[in-house]
Amino acid sequence: MMMDDSFFWFRRNRITIPGVRGEHLFLHITDTHINAADAESSDEERAESEKQETMWASFKEKFARGQLPFSVGNDEPYGDPQRITTLEAFEKQLALAEELKPEALLLSGDNLERMHGAGERYLKRKLAAYSGKFLCVPGNHEAPACDGCWAPGVRTLDFDGFRIAAVDDSQKTVSRADLDTLHALCCEGTPLIILCHVPICTPCCKEELHRVMDYFYIDGETADENGKEFVELCEKNDTVKAVLCGHVHGYHATQLVPGKPQIIGSQGMAGAVDLFTVD
Ligand SMILES: [Fe+2]
Repeated sequence: MMMDDSFFWFRRNRITIPGVRGEHLFLHITDTHINAADAESSDEERAESEKQETMWASFKEKFARGQLPFSVGNDEPYGDPQRITTLEAFEKQLALAEELKPEALLLSGDNLERMHGAGERYLKRKLAAYSGKFLCVPGNHEAPACDGCWAPGVRTLDFDGFRIAAVDDSQKTVSRADLDTLHALCCEGTPLIILCHVPICTPCCKEELHRVMDYFYIDGETADENGKEFVELCEKNDTVKAVLCGHVHGYHATQLVPGKPQIIGSQGMAGAVDLFTVD
């Protein structure tokens, strides 16, 4: 049983949407920061992957223990089971998804540590072999497109009574075209759960988010015009029922307005899993 593997630590969340029939299980993973090298990698690429892997080996522990000045307050599980490579961690996360068979595997960005050929080939191959549905967004470490994994534009998965929309907010803003698509989706009225990388900050979750540096969220007051419009849409449009994101490398269950959750998953490379149910 993968669930019993002490690498994992779970947070369970529930999103209740009126009109949804039955219970729908999802697996939300974020910030896996994969570093890979393969036979096609150049010496430079291989050396860079080794360097970044070494960096994250200590950095992910500091995030977990809340030892970084810009990420305060999290004291998350960390020990020998979490001291594995980013590739080993991703293999475990996929094996867990294969075992739990969620309705979709949701990856909310920084899937790769950086765009690199071996990492992109690895992720494409793994996601193509995955037996279920998945939805991926890019993080700030990634490019807007990654063949076979994610693509520019809002992408959606439909379920019984709701839909999940993947939105690229990795640069702390959202493109005009994507905002237009989101407004059109909201007009259709099907309840929407937004999957993105960077959390958003509204008055309701300000206190919680201000525990981390403003690098880690889109502030509805200080973002650029499109960023502000994205925050306002998520906060005020009743069709948007929840936001799932990452980026912070620490788990935070916040609310955009009372009753509208924003679940910030912690670092998947250190075993964090956000299991949530929509009902
Ligand atoms: Fe990250």
